[in-house]
Amino acid sequence: MVIATEIPILDEQSITETLRTKNIEIDLFITAIKEKVGYDLSGYARASIKRRIEQLVIDENVTCIAELIPKLLYSKECQANYINRLTVNVSELFRHPNSFLSLRKSVLPYLESFPRRDIWIAGCATGEEAYSMAILLEEVGLLNNTQIHATDINTEVLKQAKTGILTKGLNKDDAARYQASGGTSSLSNYFSTAYNKHKLSQHLLDHISFSHHNILQDKVFCSAQLVMCRNVMIYFDLNTQNSALALFHNSLVQNGYLVIGEKESLINSPLINLLKTIDEPAKIYQRKSSANV
Ligand SMILES: C[S@@+](CC[C@H](N)C(=O)[O-])C[C@H]1O[C@@H](n2cnc3c(N)ncnc32)[C@H](O)[C@@H]1O
Repeated sequence: MVIATEIPILDEQSITETLRTKNIEIDLFITAIKEKVGYDLSGYARASIKRRIEQLVIDENVTCIAELIPKLLYSKECQANYINRLTVNVSELFRHPNSFLSLRKSVLPYLESFPRRDIWIAGCATGEEAYSMAILLEEVGLLNNTQIHATDINTEVLKQAKTGILTKGLNKDDAARYQASGGTSSLSNYFSTAYNKHKLSQHLLDHISFSHHNILQDKVFCSAQLVMCRNVMIYFDLNTQNSALALFHNSLVQNGYLVIGEKESLINSPLINLLKTIDEPAKIYQRKSSANV
C-alpha cells in the first residue's frame, strides 16, 4: 500500500519569508567563519557559497544552516572540515594542458632573459600546479635560478603540498595531460615511488616554497615575472575578482605575465587596458610597460 505524504503548499509570502530567513542564516554563518576562523567569505560569489553551505546541511544531517553555527563555534574539527568544503581544493597535474603548452611556447622564452626568476602561484591547493610548473621549467632548462612561490589561504592543503606527495597518485590521465602540455619525457621520471605514494623529486621540490597568503586580505606576495592564479577567482564576486586582479597586476614586473583559469575572464576588469592579450583561450596576458599604457 502506498501512503501519500502531504507536501505543504507554500504561498508567496511564506516563500519570501523562508528565503529571507535562509539569507539571514547564511550571513550569520559567514560572520561566524570570519570571527572564529579568520576567513572572510563575504566576497565570494553568493550562489556558490549558498550551494556549498546547503550541501553541508545535508552532509551534517542537520535541519537548517543555523544548526551548523554551534558546531563551527565549538569544534576545531568542524572548522577545518567546513573551510575545506567551502574553499574547494581540487587540483591536478597539468590541469588545462593548453595553458602549459602556451606557456612553454610563448612565455618561457621571455623568462630566459632574466638572470633570476620569481613565479607566484596563488591559490595552489595541494600543490599540483606548482609541481607542474617545476617540471616544465626543468624541461626547458630554466629551473635553476627560479623560485616558485606557491600560496593558499588553507593551511591544511599547504601542509599536504609541502610533502611533494600526490594526493591522488599518478595515473594515465595525468600522463596524457603532461603530453598534451608538450612534455618531452615521461611524467613518472619526476616522481619517486614508495609505499604506493608518488613524491616529486627533491631537486624540483627545493625550488618551490609553500606559504599562507590570503588574496583578499594580504598584500602583494612578491615581485614576479609570472603570476598564475587559476580556478580561484571563479568563486569570487565581480568586485572581489577585480581587487584580486589589481593585486596580481601590482606584483608583476613590467612586461611580466599573468595566467588565469580557462573559465575566468578579464572582460569586466578595469585592468583590461593595462594588459596585452598573449593567448585568449589559454588566458595568458602580459603587463604593458608604463610607456605602453
Ligand atoms: C579549485 S582550487 C585551484 C587550485 C589550482 N590553482 C588549480 O587550478 O588546480 C582553489 C584554491 O583557492 C584557494 N583559495 C580560495 N580563496 C582564497 C583566497 N582568498 N586566498 C588564497 N587562496 C584562496 C582555495 O583554498 C583552493 O585551494
